[in-house]
Formats: sequence, structure tokens, C-alpha cells
Amino acid sequence: MTIQHEDKRFGFLFNNEWKQSESGRTIEIYSPDDEQMVGQVQAMTQNEVNEAIASVKEAQAHWENKNVHERVNLLHRWADELEKRADEIGETIQHEVGKAFSSARGEVIRTAELIRHTAEDGLRVNGELMQGDGFPGGDKEQLAMIKKVPHGVVLAISPFNYPVNLAAAKIAPALIAGNGVVFKPATQGAVSGMQMVEALVNAGLPEGVLNVVTGRGSEIGDFVVQHPTIDLISFTGGTETGQRISEKATMAGVILELGGKDPAIVLSDGDLDKAAKEIVGGAFSYSGQRCTAIKRVLVMEDVADQLVEKVQEKVEALKVGKASENAQITPMINDGAADYVEELIADAKDKGAKVVTTGERQGNLLHPTLLDNVTTDMRIAWEEQFGPVLPIIRISNPLEAIELENENEYGLQGSIFTKNIDDAMMLANKLEVGTVQINGKTSRGPDHYPFLGVKNSGQGVQGIGRSISSMLRDKVIVMNM
Ligand code: NAP
Ligand code: G3H
Repeated sequence: MTIQHEDKRFGFLFNNEWKQSESGRTIEIYSPDDEQMVGQVQAMTQNEVNEAIASVKEAQAHWENKNVHERVNLLHRWADELEKRADEIGETIQHEVGKAFSSARGEVIRTAELIRHTAEDGLRVNGELMQGDGFPGGDKEQLAMIKKVPHGVVLAISPFNYPVNLAAAKIAPALIAGNGVVFKPATQGAVSGMQMVEALVNAGLPEGVLNVVTGRGSEIGDFVVQHPTIDLISFTGGTETGQRISEKATMAGVILELGGKDPAIVLSDGDLDKAAKEIVGGAFSYSGQRCTAIKRVLVMEDVADQLVEKVQEKVEALKVGKASENAQITPMINDGAADYVEELIADAKDKGAKVVTTGERQGNLLHPTLLDNVTTDMRIAWEEQFGPVLPIIRISNPLEAIELENENEYGLQGSIFTKNIDDAMMLANKLEVGTVQINGKTSRGPDHYPFLGVKNSGQGVQGIGRSISSMLRDKVIVMNM
């Protein structure tokens, strides 16, 4: 049975077979770019989800016992397969989530590189030894062997915006550590995600070590999250969904990568040309649909006019159009997302924000919008827009930026533009975020750096090495000699 049946019907992966659901129901996925159908994915029943999880549990025990080199080799072969199919999978990503082809193909290549790096780091996982006499009254002859063992069955839930990369960033570390994986892709993104999994199957994935569950998160999400066989959940997506998962998962560990409201703080002595370039790149790539997009600018009043002018010039030069035309600003993922961004812009305008630049909406395609003189009574000062609009808030003191940032519910990343290293370090130390970028845009990569959000932006740490660690737990064996 192949992955795709007639009428673009994609199967779900069960023990290396692509199957159709006994529900007889599929979910049609339409491209945000040209509104054509990308494919249909199976709406699985609870019974099928149960079987998928049970089978991963069984296969995981064998997978864990394999020599780590076997797992490393599988990951390298998977990366090879992805590289070979970069154009094809890139085209699917472009079509399915409306991402320009260069970025979509780049996502596949980045994923292959991430998988190879994960394989290499996975070889260097070691446990430790502890002697009993390290604690008062302890016995010098007593020895604890602290082994690193997998959690068991990992549930990987990914979002639409990086349907291949953010899925593989969970799957690869889980597999290298010896876990089995139940993969729940975002429905809009499931076709790309399953092609990535097909590459893994072709690379030699042993049966049942990874199964895919498809269906709307709102229908099967709670069931899978609460399933007693799931040992660890690794989730990337919206804060609301993450909080729900956290509440529902009782005994399973939970790693969350959630939303953000990353600020770019521009001080009076900042290099304004560089700041403008980084801000526009950071805020508008993939139409702002990135957790790490710059989502507000906090600029010192005395340089604000100059910065706004420079940012405006760059925003107006962005190519707006279809992903298939390799535009920079492409249609948003769906109508609801575009409506939400429009609502935030309207609220800001009503409350006195100055529209520096904007354009007509065509369906889901929103032209990039720059708003100046945004104030804290406006929703866009606080809410995650996840779209092509950038609010500028003028500040009169660098410490105001800290107050504004730390008051907000998110804490993913923040950028500071200044030539004064003391100011940069003072602000960096005070910002309640996972990562601070000095004189650069906010960004997850390079992928071996730790990546984390604080407050409502997440729980746990990702980034290749940290992700592998999070997929392992200690097993302590004490020798009493
Ligand atoms: P989302 O709506 O929260 O969906 C994410 C995933 O959760 C999808 O697979 C979705 O499935 C699933 N899901 C929905 N309801 C569920 C439930 N009750 N139980 C279990 N799973 C459920 O997020 P999105 O719209 O795809 O992505 C946008 C958001 O993700 C933004 O807020 C963005 O900031 C955040 N994000 C954060 C990071 C980060 O690294 N911090 C990275 C990327 C995105 P369905 O698709 O079937 O609904
Ligand atoms: O959308 C969230 C991603 O983790 C952002 O990754 O900074 O490489 O675009 P990125």
C-alpha cells in the first residue's frame, strides 16, 4: 500500500503500512496559496489511535535495545532520503502551508542537517557513576550507576508553520534516545509531515517504532494526550493548546514550545540601518507566522522617526503575492488567522495608532502593515499577531522596555540594538525571556543552541543536545559491595 491513494487520499502510517481509516472519513486540506486541494488525510477512530499507540509501545522495547549505531545509521539514511526529495517535499510544504519555495525547500534541507547533527550528538550520550561517601555517613564502597534510558513512548505534536522541521526536531531526538514515537502532525501540514515520515520508512524504520495519528486536534487531541501509554509529550503550537495539554496530561512529562511576543528594543545609539534590516527580516519572513518573529518594536523616542522611515522603506520593498511566485509576504494560513490580524489592526487604528504603510486584503493575503505610535491600551501591544503586521511603541527610557517586556505574558526571545555592551548586558540580564539576541533578529537557529521560552512561551528546553537530554531519563542501579 502506498502513502497516497486515489483522489489524493493519504493513508496514516501503522506499522510501516499506509492505511485508510475504518471511520470512512477524511479531512480535506486546501492550499492557502491557490485554494486547490493538497490532499485528504484520515480521520482516525479512537480504536485505531489505541492500536497505533499499543504497537509503538511493543516496538519500542526492541528499539531501545538496539546498538546506538543502528539508530545513528537510520537517522543518517533518513537525512539522505530527505535531501534526495528536497524539491518534492519542498513543493508540498509550499502548497500546503503557503511558504515560498526557497524557504520550503530550505526547511527540508535544514531538517536533514538537524537529523545528522542529532545522530552525531546521540553517539555521545553517557551516564555517570557516583560514590556513596559523597553524602555524610555514606559508604565509599557503594556505587551508583546512573544510566540514561529512554522515557518509552513519546507523543510528538507539531504545528502548521514548520510541518517538517518542527516535527523532525522532536522525532529525531526521541528516536536516537531509543524512544518509540506517536506522531500527530498539524492537520494543515499533515501531508508534508507524512512525506517526511515516508522518507523515514524508506530509510529503514523498523515496524511500529513510529506510527502516525491523524485527525483534528479538537477531536482526537484530548484522547491521545490522556492516553495512559504515553510517557512524554513534546508539543509545539499555540499557548492555549499547550496549556490545555498541560492540564490534561496527568502523569506524562510535557515539553512545550509555545507562542511569543518577541520585542526588538532599539536604543538611541543603536545602528539603525542594521536594526531596520534585522527587524524587517525578523518580523515579516513567512508573513510573520513564526513563534520567533519580532512582534513589537520598542524604540527610544529620539531615534524613532529615523528608524520608522528606514523600516518603512524596507517593508514597502517586500514582494507580496503567492508562495508559488516566491513572494516574501504570502497568504496567511486561513481566513480566521487573517481576520484576527485585521481585528488587531482595526483596534489599534481606532485607538489612535498611525498606519505608516498597509495595503488591501485579497482573501487570506494581507499586505504588510506597519503601525507607529502604538500604545499599551491597544491589543496589538500585547497579543500575538502571528501575521504580517508590526507595531512600534515609542519609549523614553531603556528601562521602560524592560517593564513592557516583563509585563507581557510571553517570554520567548528579545533583541536589543545598541553599541554599548554594558547597556546590552544590563537589559539582557533583566529581560524575562529564554534567549536575548544582541544586534540581531530573534531566531531559533542555529539548531544546536538551547531554545526555550519562559512564562507562557513554554516549558522545558529544546535545541539538538537539550532535546536529546529531554528524551532521556535517569535509571539508577546501586551496587552495594
Ligand atoms: P495550534 O493550533 O496550537 O496547533 C498545534 C498542534 O496542536 C496541531 O497539531 C493541532 O492539531 C494540535 N492540537 C490542537 N488541539 C489539540 C488538543 N486539544 N490536544 C492535542 N493537540 C491539539 O498551533 P498552530 O496554529 O499550528 O501554530 C501556531 C502557534 O504555534 C502560534 O501561537 C506560534 O507562536 C506557536 N508556535 C510556537 C513555536 C515555538 O517554538 N515556541 C513554534 C511554532 C509555532 P490540528 O492541526 O489537527 O488542530
Ligand atoms: O515558529 C517557531 C519556530 O521555532 C521558529 O523557528 O526562528 O527558525 O523561524 P525560526
